Amino acid sequence: MTPPTTLPTLDEIRALHAKYAPTPEALDAVLTHCEIVCGIAEQLMASAELPLDADLVRAGALLHDIGVYRLYDRDGRLDHRNYIRHGVLGHEILREEGYPELLCRFCSCHTGVGLTRHDVRAQQLPLPEADYLAVSAEEQLVMYADKFHSKNPPRFYTADAFAARVAKFGAQKVDAFDVLRARFGEPDLTTAAAQYGHAQGRI
Ligand SMILES: [Fe+2]
Repeated sequence: MTPPTTLPTLDEIRALHAKYAPTPEALDAVLTHCEIVCGIAEQLMASAELPLDADLVRAGALLHDIGVYRLYDRDGRLDHRNYIRHGVLGHEILREEGYPELLCRFCSCHTGVGLTRHDVRAQQLPLPEADYLAVSAEEQLVMYADKFHSKNPPRFYTADAFAARVAKFGAQKVDAFDVLRARFGEPDLTTAAAQYGHAQGRI
């Protein structure tokens, strides 16, 4: 099969989720979260009038968590201990599917506000020692939009709630989040919370 050279269509993205989801429940949790993150990214793009590649943002947002499927066991239980690996696992999936590196990177470079090789070493994370940093504006927007919703349990979080959570990883992480917040602004989560029936929670 000839590897795809362009971004996947919406139908192809849904087919990828269906292919890798081990259960209907996992598919629902991950795909719904990805759609919510995509909606948040689109809202931020529109309100800040950011000159970004909107198709790339959408595809990246809709696929950023596809690696989570590889962390479910046969009984549909999620491996929380290795959850941080979902980024590199997703990067692997998209690479195996033949998608370009610029799309694969949305998976490996969206965790927290970016992971450095120092973080991997200092926190003894189960990842190859490397930097996993959102570089392009599109990658940074998807990483940022991801911070406003959580899959498990399904909840929306404000920017203040995430800032409080990330503080335990150091002042540098709070500063990095503040830079993103100033650049992209804060989304209005009210409509999405009502649409999906997910509460706004505390972290
Ligand atoms: Fe996510």
